[in-house]
Amino acid sequence: MRVETLRWDGASGRIEMIDQRVLPARFDMLGYDSAEGVAAAIRSMVVRGAPAIGCASAYGIAVEARRLQRLDGSAFASGMDRAFAVLADSRPTAVNLFWALQRLRTVMGAMPDGPPPRIADALLREAHAMLAADVAANRAMGALGAALLPQQARVLTHCNAGALATAGHGTALGVIRSAVEAGKRIAVIADETRPFLQGARLTVWEMQQENIPVTLITDNMSGYLMQQGQVDAVIVGADRVAANGDFANKIGTYMVAVLARRHGIPFYVAAPRSSIDRQLASGREIPIEERSAEEVRGFGAQRWAPADVAVRNPAFDVTPAELVSALITEQGVVGPPTAEGIAALFA
Ligand code: MRU
Repeated sequence: MRVETLRWDGASGRIEMIDQRVLPARFDMLGYDSAEGVAAAIRSMVVRGAPAIGCASAYGIAVEARRLQRLDGSAFASGMDRAFAVLADSRPTAVNLFWALQRLRTVMGAMPDGPPPRIADALLREAHAMLAADVAANRAMGALGAALLPQQARVLTHCNAGALATAGHGTALGVIRSAVEAGKRIAVIADETRPFLQGARLTVWEMQQENIPVTLITDNMSGYLMQQGQVDAVIVGADRVAANGDFANKIGTYMVAVLARRHGIPFYVAAPRSSIDRQLASGREIPIEERSAEEVRGFGAQRWAPADVAVRNPAFDVTPAELVSALITEQGVVGPPTAEGIAALFA
């Protein structure tokens, strides 16, 4: 089954997205026809994962333009300004969000006197192109990354960097999918990924859809498995890669990277160029989202910690480039990542 994380419904003029808050207990698609709605979906993690957030925000702009297209030029322009602002404010860490908004700004900027319906059409075409390009990038990354994995390997991953986190195929899980397609025998070890459980709920679900062997562990078990010689490689995605190769990814990634280095296990990062922020010299500058305390005190309706306990909930951490064996992009593999190697991806 091909996972369609985002799907344009031409009949209703809505962008439909899998509700990732309720998987795997339920499979629901939710439809959106405004920037405000898409921004709320990003914030509440109906849609999550850096490339998927980028695509969702592009459609958020496109649906808003269609909604406002009967306004006169200046009312349309100020409505669109508000749409860009509300989407930019939805989540701070994944740079794909800002990359996507900038691309749509450029499309609008090229049509300063264009009638709103024509601008709306152009924005929708751009969103479609970005969706298709993301799948193509993941396929290219998959082929390059698959070559790095041995014929038979137990591969640990953290969070969900799969089809659900992208427009399709996935980044880290895309590499695993491509390796399996190439006949390699890959067994996935999925970190549960507290507190939102992207590993337990989403990575496991995705792997099971395709009969790729997967074993679930809690986040505090990876050190033990590595020490026992039961992990051959680690592969993760990224929300933002700085110019020097430091990268932000789901909280807990840094811990896994330190452990992998301690045990001499290759640690790979798979991320498209849209996740690379060349404006930031190092990972110290990456903004880290702090989410609600309720996500740590319990999950869903379930509460297990005292309601008044102080909580920290940073959603991401930063892993220094020195712990990364290779950065896999659609444009090539940089291993280990350096500022020069990363700049060459854009040459
Ligand atoms: O909070 P999330 O679920 O949006 O975090 C997602 C991750 O950390 C992913 O690993 C990252 O976005 C890469 S997705 C290809």
